[in-house]
Amino acid sequence: MAGKKKPRFLLAVETSCDETSAAVLERGRILSNVILSQDEIHSPYGGVVPELASRQHIKSIDYVIGESLTQAGVGLGEIDLYAVTQGPGLIGSLLVGLTFAKGLAFYFKKPLIGVDHLQAHIEAPFLENDRIEFPVLALLVSGGHTSLYFLEKPLDYRLLGKTRDDAAGECLDKVAKFLKLGYPGGPVIERLARGGDSSRFHFSLPRMKTAGYDFSFSGLKTAALKIIRENGLSAEHPALRDFLASFEETVARALLENMHKALEEFRPASLILCGGVARNTRLRTRFSELAEGYRLPSYVPSPRLCTDNAGMVGALAWKKYQASPVTSTDLDLDAYPR
Ligand code: KG4
Ligand code: ZN
Repeated sequence: MAGKKKPRFLLAVETSCDETSAAVLERGRILSNVILSQDEIHSPYGGVVPELASRQHIKSIDYVIGESLTQAGVGLGEIDLYAVTQGPGLIGSLLVGLTFAKGLAFYFKKPLIGVDHLQAHIEAPFLENDRIEFPVLALLVSGGHTSLYFLEKPLDYRLLGKTRDDAAGECLDKVAKFLKLGYPGGPVIERLARGGDSSRFHFSLPRMKTAGYDFSFSGLKTAALKIIRENGLSAEHPALRDFLASFEETVARALLENMHKALEEFRPASLILCGGVARNTRLRTRFSELAEGYRLPSYVPSPRLCTDNAGMVGALAWKKYQASPVTSTDLDLDAYPR
């Protein structure tokens, strides 16, 4: 549009689960990315309690947004675009961020861009690497989702497969809960498994009976609980470290087996691993070994950008805006749980 100022600053909001996060981006680059975790609130329950999560987002959101602006040195009046996660996630949590962002965009008469949370996770590595070559095969592993995507070109998401039951992160969280190790389970398991013998306990790999790229983790969870009971494992048991190392190794192998299969069929130019579970060192190592075997460049976001954060939401919104600019606040923009 002639004479119209090009957008520069974008404010992104993410409240899909148990992190309240806001980020300020300048032309798609992160200036600030504030993340307030609710781990302490949910920890006694061994998992996220949806109602507590929504209430905590309500309490924190203005502080988190204010802090993101302060850290970026940008005033609210300077924001040209707003971005928010629409879903999937916990509906009550999503609505807090969506309503807050919508209110700001409406008041300041600025465009509001809705973003899919899973696509935002895939955007995270692009924040640190602008030369990732397409087509891309991306494995997203988080607490709520385990999905494999093929992207022929930017913003072109083809879902190849997803979990039929538990997500991989959920499987780690549930086993940790059963052993009373704390929440979130993934990082605790990683810490306690360090130095353990990953070949000591045998788990058969979960296999889908149908062709395709879907995952399944509920069988693995049941097998883990059976081994725990049969061996009388507990937080203090001397074999715990070996058990956790074996379990972690099996989860990593189950995840990468599907990626390996898809790699043969789709012949991507690059591989991406993202989502909260991508913080896991064993999984990251196995992933880069797979990529090296095929001489493919592989990308994993730095740990802070793996777990939920508004920076990745803002990055995707910026890309979407460049591809097709919106000019107004869409007051009908709605949240979707799945
Ligand atoms: O992406 P995320 O922050 O939230 C969702 O969108 O679900 O992922 C959270 C998940 C949790 O299941 C947590 O246990 C797992 O990521 N996680 C890890 C590690 N850090 C977080 N899993 C394994 N190893 C880790 N170091
Ligand atoms: Zn997530």
